[in-house]
Amino acid sequence: MTSKIIDKITTLRAKIDEHNYHYYVCDAPLVSDSAYDKLFRELQALEAEYPQFISEESPTQRVGSQPAAGFNEITHDLPMLSLANAFSDEEVEAFARRARERLDWDDKLTYVCEPKLDGLAVSIVYEHGLFLRAATRGDGYVGEDITHNVKTIRNVPLRLRGDDYPEWLEVRGEVYMPKQGFTDLNIRMAQLGERQFVNPRNAAAGSLRQLDAQMTATRPLALYAYALGKVEEDSSPNSHYANLQRLKTWGLPVCPEISKVNGAMECLDYYRQIGSKRDALPYEIDGVVYKLDDLMQQEQLGFVSRAPRWAIAHKFPAQEEMTVIEDVEFQVGRTGAITPVARLKPVFVGGVTVSNATLHNMDEVARKDVRIGDTVVVRRAGDVIPEVASVDKSQRPDITKPVVLPTHCPVCESDVVKAEGEAVARCTGGLFCAAQRREGIKHFASRKAMNIEGLGDKLVVQLVSENQIHSSADLFSLSVEQLTGLERMGEKSAKNVVAAIEKSKATTLDKFIYALGIREVGEATARHLAQYYGNLEAVMQADQESLVQVDDVGPIVAAHVHAFFQQSHNVDIIKQLQEAGLHWPTVQVNRDELPLKGQTFVLTGSLTSLPRDEAKGRLQALGAKVSGSVSKNTSVVIAGEAAGSKLVKARELGVTVHNEQWLLELLG
Ligand code: IVH
Repeated sequence: MTSKIIDKITTLRAKIDEHNYHYYVCDAPLVSDSAYDKLFRELQALEAEYPQFISEESPTQRVGSQPAAGFNEITHDLPMLSLANAFSDEEVEAFARRARERLDWDDKLTYVCEPKLDGLAVSIVYEHGLFLRAATRGDGYVGEDITHNVKTIRNVPLRLRGDDYPEWLEVRGEVYMPKQGFTDLNIRMAQLGERQFVNPRNAAAGSLRQLDAQMTATRPLALYAYALGKVEEDSSPNSHYANLQRLKTWGLPVCPEISKVNGAMECLDYYRQIGSKRDALPYEIDGVVYKLDDLMQQEQLGFVSRAPRWAIAHKFPAQEEMTVIEDVEFQVGRTGAITPVARLKPVFVGGVTVSNATLHNMDEVARKDVRIGDTVVVRRAGDVIPEVASVDKSQRPDITKPVVLPTHCPVCESDVVKAEGEAVARCTGGLFCAAQRREGIKHFASRKAMNIEGLGDKLVVQLVSENQIHSSADLFSLSVEQLTGLERMGEKSAKNVVAAIEKSKATTLDKFIYALGIREVGEATARHLAQYYGNLEAVMQADQESLVQVDDVGPIVAAHVHAFFQQSHNVDIIKQLQEAGLHWPTVQVNRDELPLKGQTFVLTGSLTSLPRDEAKGRLQALGAKVSGSVSKNTSVVIAGEAAGSKLVKARELGVTVHNEQWLLELLG
């Protein structure tokens, strides 16, 4: 009986692995998605019934259940280097010439040409054919352990195919997010009212840096392997291209656009051919990479500083286009900063249509001599907001209009001032200005502030423009009925938003101070203020002389903090927020001697009575350091439910271990 079940499980796993190989590596699936799903569910059901037969490399075991507390470091056996860049044909020719000269080689050299994928470099180690661990590139020498996250990537095999793989195989490659997956993910994020990612690269980076692998598993990531790291085997081919082919036979995905060519001219042909397909490729690339195919030649050439002499990245030009400025408008930010924004004749730049571009500030407008009617270069550099890079004066028409800073705020008509020596002009309307209120409320609700899930930027804009709320305090009296009255808001989402608002009432002093949106007060300053004063009233009453005593606070920040609490409307809103039920634990202060100063805590397992982040914040407020890994320097390990390897390690090292109850008493 038992052996029959083991057989069945083994056969199912082998079948699924085989289908994965044909689907992900050969790009030629053998069965329909539904047939695959059926096999997968069958295996899941068997493993649920016989959990004793679950093994780590089973295709069902991609997601662990425990979110990690942090990322451990992994030192690379061989450093992960970067590539030198070439931006022109001449630079590529020079690269090839240098290689021939150094190798004393008269003929054309053989190169492997590969797309330069726009994602994140990773190192993955297989030991005896089984997925062992994965790391980020980090600084090239030490990366972060992202094993749990990389394991969730569907096209990364958990077990290698065949039997001729090396005992130890380190594969290097790029984790990326396909364009379609990126678009779908952003639609999902928008529906959840969460912030969207600016580009697939950022989305891939954000997804790999999740502490919770279950979250990473929902992100459409993929891998292309492009090199070997440390490998232990008796003999191996002497060609990079042959090694990439071997990776495929072991089940590792390799980019299908890779091509072997002879000489620099053929490299340049490849560059143009890939460039013309670029938009049609299902993933983003920012250039191509040429690598010498012969590994002996690679070794002979070696490295200069941190880049190999045997490879180079030939980058596509920065994403710039010309268009005309039709008008310039002024946007008002949270702190009243007024930004000139160019309204453009729509232009397609780097894959998107751009119709607005920032002009940054009036000093920049003057420096670039921008006028309405000008033809300008618009640049969209990867993840940043499109900007007007320069003006083409040769195309300036006879009649243009200068860009003039308004004397009054375009939203609330308060005076606009530009302080001497400052580039930024500001609206003086404060919370009287609808734009500042709106931006302030967005900030208040944002993740690092009150973290009101589901209350995204768009919803705040809607609420403010329909006069449903005037301040952050008004959020706390929003009703489900009020919200369902809004366009595109169903009852379920409305209920979720109201529940999230309610939940946000329990916060910490530092988050609350940060949420207030005081100029120049970021997360760190807010934390220092909270730690120094311990309670809100003390912060509100502090004069500038006292404020400059706080870590990180100089005269300018002190003046902003002081001025903020001098304004009666700010004090009123704080009062309303407290009356609405916002609360936080008092922070114990002892100026120099915080009670847990010098102590390092590690939280492991799940806590039942408070979120881990809150426990961490409160420990930090008492002066403790909270670390993700146990070492002999750890003072206390707090072991929650189902604590695992960290608890074992703590025991091994003889580190003090306490339970959640003890922690609660400590935090009072
Ligand atoms: S090879 C020593 N091949 O580009 C050579 N890198 O600037 C190591 N990249 O960190 C890199 N596609 O993240 C190589 N086909 C490719 C690549 C590639 C993208 C990235 C990689 C690396 C960076 C180097």
